[in-house]
Amino acid sequence: MSSLPITYLEHSQLFELRTSKTSYLFGIRPNGSVQHVYWGEQVEASECGYRLKNRGHSSFDAEVNREIEEFGGWGGCNYAEPGLKATFQDGVRDLKLAFANFEIPSDDELVVHLADDHYSLRVEVHYRVIAEHDLIERYVTVVNEEEHPVRIEQVMAAIWSVQGQRDYRLTHVTGRWAGEYQLRETMLSEGKKVLESRRGFTGPHANPWFAIDNGKADEASGKVWFGALGWSGNWKIVAEKTTFGHVRIVGGINDFDGSFVLQPGTAYTSPVFVGGYTSGGFGEMSRLLHGYQHDHVIPTDKLRKVLYNSWEATEFEVTVQGQLELARRAAKLGVERFVVDDGWFGARHSDRAGLGDWQVNAEKFPNGLQELIDEVKELGMEFGIWVEPESVNPDSDLFRRHPEWVYQFPTREGTQLRNQLLLNLGLPEVKAFVLDFMTELLSSYDISFIKWDMNRTVTEPGVHPRYQQAGESVWIKHVQHVYEIWAELRRRFPHVEFETCAGGGARIDLGMLRYADQAWISDNTDARDRLSIQEGFTYAYSPAVMMCWVTESPHGFNGRSLPMSYRFHSSMMGGLGIGANIRHWSPEEMAEAKRYVELYKEIRATVLQGSLYRLESLRYSNTAAYQYLSQDRKESVVFTFLQSQHFGAEERHLQLQGLDAGVKYEVTIDEQELLVLHGSNLMHVGLPLQLRGDYGSKLIRLKAIQ
Ligand code: DGJ
Repeated sequence: MSSLPITYLEHSQLFELRTSKTSYLFGIRPNGSVQHVYWGEQVEASECGYRLKNRGHSSFDAEVNREIEEFGGWGGCNYAEPGLKATFQDGVRDLKLAFANFEIPSDDELVVHLADDHYSLRVEVHYRVIAEHDLIERYVTVVNEEEHPVRIEQVMAAIWSVQGQRDYRLTHVTGRWAGEYQLRETMLSEGKKVLESRRGFTGPHANPWFAIDNGKADEASGKVWFGALGWSGNWKIVAEKTTFGHVRIVGGINDFDGSFVLQPGTAYTSPVFVGGYTSGGFGEMSRLLHGYQHDHVIPTDKLRKVLYNSWEATEFEVTVQGQLELARRAAKLGVERFVVDDGWFGARHSDRAGLGDWQVNAEKFPNGLQELIDEVKELGMEFGIWVEPESVNPDSDLFRRHPEWVYQFPTREGTQLRNQLLLNLGLPEVKAFVLDFMTELLSSYDISFIKWDMNRTVTEPGVHPRYQQAGESVWIKHVQHVYEIWAELRRRFPHVEFETCAGGGARIDLGMLRYADQAWISDNTDARDRLSIQEGFTYAYSPAVMMCWVTESPHGFNGRSLPMSYRFHSSMMGGLGIGANIRHWSPEEMAEAKRYVELYKEIRATVLQGSLYRLESLRYSNTAAYQYLSQDRKESVVFTFLQSQHFGAEERHLQLQGLDAGVKYEVTIDEQELLVLHGSNLMHVGLPLQLRGDYGSKLIRLKAIQ
C-alpha cells in the first residue's frame, strides 16, 4: 500500500489517489477509456485491477453503458450526462475522448490528458488530493488546438461516481429569499435529479453541493459521499442513478443557454468541484468541508468582528445624525465594526433611484462621509459600508449616461426587479467602471469593510449591438469579472475585509468564498427561522463565515417575539452582528446585550475556529443543540434551544461529542450552574437539558481542567 497521495500502478493501469482515510481509484481500459473503479474506505489498490473489465448487456446497452466513465464526452453510444459535449466546425457533434498520457506535477496533483482521436481537442482532467481533509479537488481544462473554432455545448467540472449501495439517498438544500438553505433528503430512483441555477448567480433556490448515502447515515455515523462546486453563476449538478445500479454526480457550469465558442488556440478551465468521502456521517462531512475552507478556500484566518449594521434600523432613511446615534449606542455594546448599509449615496431615498451613482449623498452627509467615519473610529470601531456595484436603477445618472451597459435584447424591454437592471459586468468598460469607483471609495475614506450586495437575478442576458462578442458566454464572463474585481480589490486594499451578500444568501459557494471573508446568509433575521437556515448552511459551509444579526422582537417578518437570550444565542453561533434599532433599546436591554457581546468575545475563537457537532435538530425534535469544540479539545460551547415545552415529556440528556473521555471538564450553564464531569460521562450519559417554556435557550461552556 503506497503512502503517497498519488500513485500510478503500471501493471494494472490504475491510478490511486489516497487521502488520510480514503482511496479513490480509476484506470485505463485497453480501449483507452478512463474508468472509475472505486471511492471509499482505504483499500489495497493493487488488488482492484479486475474491476476495469466490463461487458456489454445488449444492443441497447453496449459495453460503454456499463462502464463508469471518469470523465466522458458525448459521442458513440454514450448516453449518460456528459462531461463534455462539443460541435466541430464541420458539423460533427461526436466526441471520442481517449487516454493520451498523464503527469504528476507535484506529490498531490495528477493531470490525466484525454484527446479526441480525430480532432485536435484535448481535455486535461485535474486532480488535487487534500489528504488531511479526505477531499479531492477536480476540474478540467479543454484546449482547442484545431484551426477552427469549436462550440462547447456542455462542459462539466467533474463526474463523481458512487457504487455498491443498495439504495442511494441525495441530501441537498433548497429555499427562497429569506428562507435559504433548507435541508432536503430524497431517495434516488433510476433517472436524474437536477439541482441548478439559471439565474446568473448561485441562487437561493438551491446551492451547489450534494451528499449521497445509503439512506441510513446520520450526523454521527454512516458512509457519506459528498461534493461542492466553486461557481457563482449558472451551475448544474445532476445526480443520475443508472439502471445498472450506481450513481453519477455530474457538476459544472450550467449548459442551459450556456454554449460558447472556444476559439483556435484557446482553452476553457472549469471551476473546481471538490469531493470527499467519510464513514463518520453528515457531521464529519461538514467538519471536513469546514476544515478545507479554513485551510484552502477562505482568504483570511482573522476572527469575525462583532458588527453593527444599520439596515433594519434605518433602511433608506440614512442621515449622519441617525448613524451617529446608532454608532454611539453600538460602541457602548462593545461592537467592533460599524457598517452603514444601503442609502448613503446618490439619490437613494428608496429602492427606486440612485443605484449606480456612487457619490456620497450631500443632503444626508452635508460635511461628507468622513465626519461619520472619524467619530466611529474615535468610538473605537472600524467603519464599513454597503455597495451593490452590479446593479443600476433606470432612474440614475449612470443609466442615463450608459443605457448600453445593461443586459438587454434589442426588441425587449428590460425586466426590472426591485426597480433595477443589471450591468453587464462582462464588458471591459463596466468592469473598469466598478474597479475605478471602488478604488476611489476605498482610497478616499478609511473603510475597513465592504458588504457587496446583489439584489436581482439576470434577465434578458444579451448585449447591446455595440458589444457583439464572438461566441462568448455572458453568463461565464460576468462571474469571471466578479472574481477578478474582488481579487484586484483585495490586492489593492489588503486591509479591507469583504462580505458576499445577494439579498441574503444567494451568492455563497466555494467560488465566492475564495474572495470573501464572510457571508450574509439570509435577510431573515428571526432567530428561530435562522436556526434552520444556519443549520442547512453549515452542512457545506463553515460557521467562520456565517454572519448572524440580533434584531428586533417581535420580528418584522413574522411577528414572532423572542427573548433577547434566544436571539443572542442563535446569532452567537457564527459571526455575531447586531441589526436592531438600538436607539430604542432600554438601559436593561443595553446592559443585557453588552454582556452577551462580552461573552461572545470570550467564546468566539471556539465558535469560529473549532469543530461543529450538530447534536439535535428542530427537524426531528422540539430541541436543537449545536456544539463547538476548540481544536485542542480543551474548550467547548454548546447552544441549546427549545421550541416549546411539553409538560411531563421525558427529561432529555444531551450527549456531547468529540471530548477527551478521560479528561474532566468544568461545565457552566448560562454562566451559573457549575458541574465537573468527565468527557466520557458528558458524551455517553449526557447533560440534563433543563429547557423550559417556549423558545427557551441555554449556553453551556466547558473547560478542560488541567
Ligand atoms: C439586501 C441585503 O441582504 C440587506 O441586508 C440590505 O443590505 C439590503 N439589500 C439593502 O438594500
